[in-house]
Amino acid sequence: MRLQSIIGIITTLSLASVGLAGCTTQQAQSNSDTPENSPIAQTQEATPTPQPQEGKPDVPYLPTPNEVVEAMLELAKVNSNDVLYDLGSGDGRIPITAAQKFGTRATGVEIDPYLVEKSRANAQQAGVADRVKFLQQDLFKTDLSDATVVTLYLLPHINLKLRPTLLRLKPGTRIVSHAFNMGDWKPDREIQVQAPGSTRPYTLYYWVVPRSIPRELQ
Ligand SMILES: C[S@@+](CC[C@H](N)C(=O)[O-])C[C@H]1O[C@@H](n2cnc3c(N)ncnc32)[C@H](O)[C@@H]1O
Repeated sequence: MRLQSIIGIITTLSLASVGLAGCTTQQAQSNSDTPENSPIAQTQEATPTPQPQEGKPDVPYLPTPNEVVEAMLELAKVNSNDVLYDLGSGDGRIPITAAQKFGTRATGVEIDPYLVEKSRANAQQAGVADRVKFLQQDLFKTDLSDATVVTLYLLPHINLKLRPTLLRLKPGTRIVSHAFNMGDWKPDREIQVQAPGSTRPYTLYYWVVPRSIPRELQ
């Protein structure tokens, strides 16, 4: 393996451990790089009335910067005919932005009850509560049969665990993952996005679900 490839793998693994490890809901919210003019930043603090949590999160909460959210939605070319699911939706910024900027019907799936309450309040404040819903549930138990777009910001091993489900979605369904790929399922596109104030670019991966599952991925 070439030295450059080895360095690339080490960098990705460090980002996984430094970027996503040990980040609580509250820490991530205070660290969030929400631009002041974004719909999320303009929302007021919700008064959470959480329901009991179904299970432990597989991934800690860390929000995608808003510029990167927009790049994810543009990469998937989301539009008003789409049905988008964000698996592990955090404060709801991906479904809310999809509805607000592109008229998409969107669902956020989130296991943390506090974040679900926060997302519903954010959708209300952003004026898109009629197009966006939030399910408090485990993303592995979610019915994605009507999805045309799926967005992810999870972890490498969670992407791999989800891969068989994603490969069985309707052919043509578009998938965008922030930061992490799908192993042997090679992306149709990979782009780097620079967000203001960040020293490193963000990597986005894009796949289109094929008509038949390649033999090596079965
Ligand atoms: C890295 S954050 C991404 C948040 C959002 N998608 C974004 O990009 O800003 C991952 C989210 O997944 C949620 N999560 C982790 N495991 C989950 C599971 N099994 N089911 C549903 N949500 C989960 C976490 O609570 C967290 O909010």
